[in-house]
Amino acid sequence: MSRSQKLFSRAKKVIPSGINSPVRYYDPYPFFVRNATGSMIWDVDGNEYLDFCNGYGALLLGHRRKEIITAVEGQLKKGTLYCAPTELEVQLSELVSKNYHSMKKTRLVNTGSEATMTAIRLARGFTKKKKIIKFEGCYHGAHDYVLVKAGSGAAHNGISVSDGGLDEVSKNTLVVQYNDSEELDSILRKEKDVAAVIIEPVPANMGLVIPEKNFLRNVRKITSENDVLLIFDEVVTGFRVSSGGAQKHFSINPDLTTLGKALGNGFPIAAIGGKSEIMNKLSPEGKVYQASTYAGNPISVAAGIASIKTINKIKSTLYPKLESQCKKLSCAISDIASDMGIQHQINYIGSMFQIFFTDKPVVNYISAKSADVNKFKKLFQNLLKNGVFIAPSQFETVFLSSAHSKENIDKTILAYEKALEMVNK
Ligand SMILES: Cc1ncc(COP(=O)(O)O)c(C=O)c1O
Repeated sequence: MSRSQKLFSRAKKVIPSGINSPVRYYDPYPFFVRNATGSMIWDVDGNEYLDFCNGYGALLLGHRRKEIITAVEGQLKKGTLYCAPTELEVQLSELVSKNYHSMKKTRLVNTGSEATMTAIRLARGFTKKKKIIKFEGCYHGAHDYVLVKAGSGAAHNGISVSDGGLDEVSKNTLVVQYNDSEELDSILRKEKDVAAVIIEPVPANMGLVIPEKNFLRNVRKITSENDVLLIFDEVVTGFRVSSGGAQKHFSINPDLTTLGKALGNGFPIAAIGGKSEIMNKLSPEGKVYQASTYAGNPISVAAGIASIKTINKIKSTLYPKLESQCKKLSCAISDIASDMGIQHQINYIGSMFQIFFTDKPVVNYISAKSADVNKFKKLFQNLLKNGVFIAPSQFETVFLSSAHSKENIDKTILAYEKALEMVNK
């Protein structure tokens, strides 16, 4: 019996399903991690994998990036939590505003879920309206406002509305198809009690879906015309699609933005930001309540500052390199699959891609769901056998990091080739 298997047996006795977040489980049991560095991750049995799960997108700069570890080690010597303001927090919010011009003020929180929960409450408090609109298959965290037809683990496990969630809450969350601005327009013509539209500008939780030309621009136009706030959930796309997120890449100014993941490059930190007149509604100046013991904790904030500074320092080479490696990988995988006669689609942008086993272009959740998830499962299992770790679900995305070398990419192409051979068997 492997050490991972033994640990999983122990884990199941004390941790529900043996894991601390649903997508981490896969058949017959997940590998347990010993350590990770750069682009590599090792399990407790000594197997090594090239990591393309990358903390579900958080590790843009790879594991144990030098600048971040140094900043965190420096802060550890000065204390880990003060619950009183620090210069570091001011510095981080200033850096965020510089990279994201729409984020004039930010509040720091710990997780993406906290960030979207606060953004939605803030939108309701600011507009005095009740409903929100989200897109089917987009995931914005594990709280009731947004756990309605959500992507990621909820889609993977077939949970449309979570048990324990209140109908009174979910009925105020309206759902439309991604890439369908006409549907959004027609709903907003009828519904006059909508506070905000929340969107992953590039959805990465139903596999990866790319916005069609003008879609995001139309969403911005329609929300503005209807006095509805636009929340860009950039928890995944922030710092990934560009140093200023998807909003910079597509030149769209949302009213509110949420950041997470790559903001801390492996440390728990997230942010909500936007126009000052909206952000000023947060307590104590305003009456929208948000609070957290660990918010702005100096360890995560130090990691956040080091992440943004590093990204800004290397951005002229970082993004072109990630883009060309991602394109190379996606095109090579697609060519191999075509040569094998495997029906598939590959969506890619920046440092993210995903393959779907379907003949339909994947443009929204309906088409993502047409993909053969059993084939994806076989692909995942066989990639693992060939030393490549990706997220174990069709409804997630493959993430590159700055730590992936040319050799890593070439090895990954070979691993996909071997794994794809098994997909049709
Ligand atoms: C787009 C998006 N928003 C919000 C979240 C929630 O973030 P967290 O898991 O840090 O709560 C996620 C998590 O995957 C996400 O992908």
